[in-house]
Parts: sequence; C-alpha cells; structure tokens
Amino acid sequence: MRVTTGASLGLVATCSRGLEEVVAAELRGLGGADVVPGRGSVSFRGDERALVRANLWLRAASRVLLTLAEGPAGGRQALYELAAAIAWEELVAPGQTVVVDVAGRGSGFASAGFAALTVKDALVDRIRARRGNRPDVDRDDPDVRVHLHLAGERAALALDGTGEPLAHRGYRPRGGPAPLSESLAAGVLSLAGYDGSQPLVDPMCGTGTIAIEAALVATRSAPGLHRRFASERWRFLSAALLREEREAARARRRPARQPVVASDRDPRAVSAARHNAEAAGVAEVVRVERRELAALEPPGPGALIVANPPYGVRLGDAGALPELYRVLGDTLKARGAGCTAWLLVGEPELARRIGLRPQRRIVLFNGPIECRLLRFDLYRGDGHAPPDDAL
Ligand SMILES: C[S@@+](CC[C@H](N)C(=O)[O-])C[C@H]1O[C@@H](n2cnc3c(N)ncnc32)[C@H](O)[C@@H]1O
Repeated sequence: MRVTTGASLGLVATCSRGLEEVVAAELRGLGGADVVPGRGSVSFRGDERALVRANLWLRAASRVLLTLAEGPAGGRQALYELAAAIAWEELVAPGQTVVVDVAGRGSGFASAGFAALTVKDALVDRIRARRGNRPDVDRDDPDVRVHLHLAGERAALALDGTGEPLAHRGYRPRGGPAPLSESLAAGVLSLAGYDGSQPLVDPMCGTGTIAIEAALVATRSAPGLHRRFASERWRFLSAALLREEREAARARRRPARQPVVASDRDPRAVSAARHNAEAAGVAEVVRVERRELAALEPPGPGALIVANPPYGVRLGDAGALPELYRVLGDTLKARGAGCTAWLLVGEPELARRIGLRPQRRIVLFNGPIECRLLRFDLYRGDGHAPPDDAL
C-alpha cells in the first residue's frame, strides 16, 4: 500500500459497543465519506487530512486506524502472506521501531500473541530483505504501531494513527479510582442530544468527566487539541497538516452559551473536578460545587441532568446504594420538573430503586461492564414505578 497525498484511504474509527452510531454521526459531521458503522467500529474513507481531523475531533471514538490489508488468515501461513504483501519499507523509516497490537479472535490461532508474532515476522523479514537490516520492536514507545484485527478466519491489518486511546485527552490523571471514560462520557452526552444549547448539570460529578466533556462541546473545543497522536511519527504524513488542523481547531472555539455545572458531596471529588476542568481549559465554563444530590438545583429551565451514579462493581458501599438510588429518584421528582435526566447505570436492580419509568434505555459498555443509559422525562407529577421487565 502506498500513501499518496490526497488519495482516498480506508479508515476505521474504533469505539465502545453501543457508540457506533454516535461515532458515525461525528464522522459524517467531519466530512468522512462512505461511513459504515460496524460492531465496535465505524469504517469510513478520506484522505490524510480526514485522518488528522478524526484524531483531533472525534469525541466518542477510541482510536483511528489506517487500513493496509484485509484478507483470509485461517492460519500462520495465510496471515504471514497477507502481512508480507504490505510495503512496510514505505511505512517504517530506517531506525524506526515497531510493535504489533492485536484485537479480536482468530479461529486459526491458539493465542493472539502468536498471530501478532506472525505479522511482526512478516514485517521484519520484508524490511530486512530490502534494506539489509531490521526494525527493532519497542513495546512501550514504538514509532509505528501496527494493529491486527482478527475475526474468525479473516484478518485486517492497519496502522494505528492514535496511540494512547482518544479517551486520554490529557486533562485527567490516569489511574486512581475508576472514573467514567472520557469517550463514553462524550457518547452519553451525544445520545442525550447535548449540543451546548441546553443548561447541564452532573450532580454526582466525581472527577468531572461529564461536565468537562460537555464544556468542550459547548465551547466547540477539539478534544484532542492538547495531546499527541501516533500518526505524528509516520514518515509519510506531513507535520504541517496537523499544525494547520490544530490552528483551525483553535480558531473554532467559542464561548459557552449555557451553564455547565458539576457537583458532588465529596470534597476530594470537587477538588479533582476543579483541577481537571482547569487542565482541560474549561475552568471558566464548568461551575464546580460541593453539594448533596438531594439539594440538586437544575441550572435553568429544560436542563439536562446527566450522571453516572456509583454502582457496586466499581465504587461505593454496596449496602448504601439502594437508598442512594431511591434518593436519586425522589430528588429528580421533587427538584427536576421540566428537565430531562440521563443516567448511566450498571445494575438493573439498583436502577429500579429510582422508582421512575425510563422513556428510553440504551445498552453501553463502560470497559467490560454492561451499562444502561436511561432517559427520564421529568414531567410534573410523574412518579410511576417501572414494571419489573422495564429495565
Ligand atoms: C461513579 S462516581 C462518578 C464518576 C464520574 N462520572 C467521573 O467521571 O469521575 C459517583 C459519584 O457520586 C458521588 N455521590 C455519591 N453519593 C452522593 C450524594 N448523595 N450526593 C452527591 N454526590 C454523591 C460520589 O462522591 C462519586 O464521586
């Protein structure tokens, strides 16, 4: 495969399951062609600028891949041949290091590691045959990341243009207690129809991810503006392109038109959310408050209330959770009239304690955890408990 300026490239944006349509809509908005949602991914076509824009602007996707080859890979020989036909010498500059990441499952391989090794061998053999020396493997900080996707008897080989997942915007420290992924928070906001024209509050904000992502939407800020991408080390991609696109992204920023509020009962959460909003460049947009859920004050008529309450698998005292969900439902009824609430919940049993009938349920994945995003239209006097099979 040869990458020439302006050529139409086969590109793929990967994402959590449940967010494919959100990412597809984002890609169409960015001008992507032939946008086709798959399972945990969306394929599209575009030139190198489309790839750079996708990295900079996609909010709900995980990474952007440049497809190199697709074909049968029922065993070692077939996969080796598929990989050996790629002109790696044009993609990997002398002295550059490589790594092969693998996703999916192939029926012809007992281990994903063996499939990755097969691709690495094909790449190394081909470059050695042409240059007389081979690229080194660097697992931690490679110059070129090769992405192998296995699906039964077939494989797709791609370059990973993103590196660190797109969720890692750079405004939040990694590690520590498990907060919501930035991409999932952005996906939730998109599913909730948030576009910056509505007031928004997250009354259980934790590290502030939902409110910060909302502020990035409200200010039309590119989520990837302050980070680097794996494609920056590609020998065939002009550095000027990314500079231009970063510049254009800066120029698109605008002031927020409606309030964005984040609150939490825990002072450590409040201080983390403030710190993260500052790091994301939206401290002037997100109002962070220490507040009990029961004292919720929607920041305007028709506000969106978006939250991911604690659930047993990750955080919180499992015993106290049913009571918290009851308080959540009571609070929405008493204080949220005229608003729409969107809650990302992990356990149907807990969600029933809210005591309100959801108008919509969308299955999403927070890492490996299956969650439901529930929409509650909070009309005055709406207090119906859901039937048992509603969640
Ligand atoms: C799952 S975490 C939210 C994670 C958040 N989305 C993030 O990205 O970090 C739930 C949050 O709810 C807060 N919380 C629990 N009970 C609360 C209450 N009664 N009032 C306000 N906040 C509460 C916890 O302090 C915790 O920060």
